[in-house]
Amino acid sequence: MKRLLIVWHSMTGGARQMASAAADAALAQGEVDVRLLPAIEAAGDDVLAADAYLFVTPENLASMSGVMKDFFDRVYYAALDRINGRPYAILICAGSDGANAVRQIQRIATGLRLREVAEPLIVLTGAQTPEAILAPKTIAPKELERCAEIGAALAAGLAAGVF
Ligand SMILES: Cc1cc2nc3c(=O)[nH]c(=O)nc-3n(C[C@H](O)[C@H](O)[C@H](O)COP(=O)(O)O)c2cc1C
Repeated sequence: MKRLLIVWHSMTGGARQMASAAADAALAQGEVDVRLLPAIEAAGDDVLAADAYLFVTPENLASMSGVMKDFFDRVYYAALDRINGRPYAILICAGSDGANAVRQIQRIATGLRLREVAEPLIVLTGAQTPEAILAPKTIAPKELERCAEIGAALAAGLAAGVF
């Protein structure tokens, strides 16, 4: 069975809900093994053992979160030239932007010679004040549905061998 690895980090819960929605939908396809791993726990072996990837992170300070960056720093050279051509997609949870987090992950993925197989999805929470930014997030069902569609598409494409 092919394996989809979903690596996520979240501070206030938004990206966690997005990753879970994608994982549930991927699992529901019933044709791929889905590993949902917090970035802090994900290691080089997890990356090598997967056939496709979904990276899910908040944008913090115009960047992917530090914990997500730490994941890439730890696995990059373990994975370099060993996962060429494998498919991936990106989900970003952001207050009002998210574009730079996408760009950063795309650059790293280009270095790893991964292949992006879905448009990056940025979910905006609209949080602007410090209180709102630090508050726990609830992602709207229609946004979670978009995350689910990407998870399902990754799983279906992997199972069908179209990537
Ligand atoms: C320290 C910090 C920096 C942030 N910087 C940005 C930013 O540069 N751009 C943006 O759109 N949102 C920014 N945000 C808002 C978060 O992306 C938003 O709250 C999102 O919901 C966080 O995802 P999470 O709930 O998974 O932690 C920032 C939040 C924090 C705590």
